[in-house]
Amino acid sequence: MDFLGAFHPLVLHVPIGALIAAFLLEMVHYFRKSQALDQSVKIVLGFSAFTAIIAAIFGIFLSQKGGYQGLTLQIHQWSGIGVAVLSTMFFFLKSRLNSQSVWVAWGLNLTFLTIAGHFGGSLTHGEDFLLKDAPDFIKETFTSQNGSPLFIHPDSVDVFLDIIQPIAREKCNSCHNTNKKQGSLDLSEASTWKKGGKSGELFDPENTMQSLLLHRIFLPLDHEEHMPPKGQEQLIPSEVALIEWWLEHGMPFDKKVSDLQSNSRIVQILNSNFRPLDPYQVITVDPVDQSILDEFRANGITALTISRKSPLIEIRLAGVDTIGSDKIELLKKARDQIVKIDFQASGITNDHLKEIASFPNLIHLSLQQTNISNGAILNLKDLKYLQHLNVHSTSISDESIADLMALDKLRSLYLWNTNFSSEGIEKLKLARPNLELGELN
Ligand code: HEC
Repeated sequence: MDFLGAFHPLVLHVPIGALIAAFLLEMVHYFRKSQALDQSVKIVLGFSAFTAIIAAIFGIFLSQKGGYQGLTLQIHQWSGIGVAVLSTMFFFLKSRLNSQSVWVAWGLNLTFLTIAGHFGGSLTHGEDFLLKDAPDFIKETFTSQNGSPLFIHPDSVDVFLDIIQPIAREKCNSCHNTNKKQGSLDLSEASTWKKGGKSGELFDPENTMQSLLLHRIFLPLDHEEHMPPKGQEQLIPSEVALIEWWLEHGMPFDKKVSDLQSNSRIVQILNSNFRPLDPYQVITVDPVDQSILDEFRANGITALTISRKSPLIEIRLAGVDTIGSDKIELLKKARDQIVKIDFQASGITNDHLKEIASFPNLIHLSLQQTNISNGAILNLKDLKYLQHLNVHSTSISDESIADLMALDKLRSLYLWNTNFSSEGIEKLKLARPNLELGELN
């Protein structure tokens, strides 16, 4: 019976094709009535009913074999049996139905077919099989956007949700999901990973490399217990490295990349998989009024748009000694559009910076050769796009390290000629391996 059951996925395509063919013939018949067409509809419908019964019986054998369960299976099973029963009845009663009832019968049949087909697909390929390989814009339309892994900074990536889970979705979940638990193992969410499979937990803190999970992955491809099984899409070396790295850190479910120690291999893999968010594409604002730009100019503030088409602007106050609160107040008129400010060698102070920190779209901030000091950095913590910060030749020191670490979108930081100790810098590097540090002394 197991043997026959295995044919279900093959056989079921026959009644599907036949039923659709019969329906098409019926439509042709509707426009061009002919005895021969009517006969053809009956023959093809009869064939489809017969093969639907066989597919349903094989399906029942397959479900008894186990491995599949849950509501998806129930719906698939009963809608599949529905197709077999309906098309058989339809075949025998068709000649007695009036033309309206014939179309109702077709509607019913095709509806059941669609339901059975869809839930069958979910059983074998996982719930999201229709969308799995769809272009991104289609996926975004149909799925909730819980942080698509692209476009986020590697350090703020959630290790389980953004790295491990997507690998499993692609390579393991077709056999290990809520409905189909091969080896009694469901790899669809944190709680079920923690549960493990029929042989126990996936992770053994005493012996990471011999943990059930890694053991199965590292078995030779020909070994019958190798995962994913031979013939299935295999894990690629970078995916194995990521899973191994995750287990070496105790298989945590609530950590960010920056919480775990990464070696250069991991950093390289992550960098090639996660592109940093591009704020220039995300920020959408209206252009600043020309009158405001004129006012800037009249007050010695240079404002330039960052490109011809963009409404975003950059402010240059380099070398201006007298920043003063009047200038800051003026800048506030374009606070949404300003993405870059150059205060190099200007009279900017920690207090002014407090105001600047309320410019929500600031990406680039140059504070080198100024009198800012520790305490200034804390003001910047809410800038959600701040990627580049230059504080070289200021009195900033180790005291600011915690505040710098908190700037989690930061990609480059220029520190030379400051008061950092080399231990301080090491600490920062360790915490933020992806941060580009300009630290030449
Ligand atoms: C084509 C189906 C299929 C795919 C894909 C698949 N597995 Fe499996 N897996 C099985 C079957 C069947 C079993 C049970 C038989 C056995 O123990 O080998 C199993 C068992 C396991 C077990 C042992 C569970 C236990 O407690 O004994 C682990 C661990 C496992 N799989 C991990 C994975 C991982 C990780 C992936 C993805 C990288 C994966 N599997 C992909 C079919 C699959």
